[in-house]
Amino acid sequence: MIDLIRFNSFSHSLRNAIRKKELLDFDSVSSYETEAASLINSLINLRERKCEDYLEIGVEFGRTLAAVKAEKIWGVDPAPLFSAKSSSGRLCLMKTTSDSFFEKLEPGQRFDFIFLDGLHQALQTYRDLVNSMSHIKADGIIVIDDVLPVDDLSADPNMWRSIRKRRMLGKTDMAWHGDVYRVVLEVVKKHPNLNIFVVNDEKYRNGRAVIWNFSETPLEKNTDLSSASLPQSDYVSTLKRHDLLGNWEKLAGKFVDSRI
Ligand SMILES: C[S@@+](CC[C@H](N)C(=O)[O-])C[C@H]1O[C@@H](n2cnc3c(N)ncnc32)[C@H](O)[C@@H]1O
Repeated sequence: MIDLIRFNSFSHSLRNAIRKKELLDFDSVSSYETEAASLINSLINLRERKCEDYLEIGVEFGRTLAAVKAEKIWGVDPAPLFSAKSSSGRLCLMKTTSDSFFEKLEPGQRFDFIFLDGLHQALQTYRDLVNSMSHIKADGIIVIDDVLPVDDLSADPNMWRSIRKRRMLGKTDMAWHGDVYRVVLEVVKKHPNLNIFVVNDEKYRNGRAVIWNFSETPLEKNTDLSSASLPQSDYVSTLKRHDLLGNWEKLAGKFVDSRI
């Protein structure tokens, strides 16, 4: 209930800020736990080590960023919808694309947790994952958003085409996830030893891939992902066949059993 009150007051401040064409300060962004933040905080707890450095690619209003329990939070977005003004000193906001951020990042910088939620295109997200793997601690965790399209239409990489086709077919929902799921397929096909699991249940409705244990050799940089283009239904059966899709309890069990 308290969370709901905080969320409503955040929405109210946000509407006011948009009306005045101002950006909210980061301190005014509610720490109401988004679904993504709830998953990330639960994984941080499961890891049983404090999260010193958290990196989020694609931060938008900063709602997940503000709710994550980490000592230092790094946000990367070419067009964040809040201002970096913050009294806490724990925020480092980079107004740039993920590619240019990683290009300039100190080679020795390591993160405990990275959340990939920027440009929802398979090749870009794959590049974000490859770059993240050079900067994640061996026992760190990477989460990728939106990897479970609900059908072939929602997996269309072109959002407007996907929505137009949905309307033409008389579907009333606006489900669109894009083709980020192909990144998961690539990992499953080419890196069967890397720990990956797609969590999807009543609490975490938006399918997200969780990847952990980074002693594995880095992913191949220059792929065109052409071998990772199964239709959505075959993708879901591939995940099920490899036991890589399920609820939070299943993910938590696998994580604890296989942790390095
Ligand atoms: C779905 S929103 C992120 C939501 C946020 N992670 C949250 O949980 O509240 C996607 C964001 O990615 C940003 N974005 C788009 N292209 C990007 C890129 N190349 N690098 C980083 N961020 C990008 C957009 O500006 C947008 O704010």
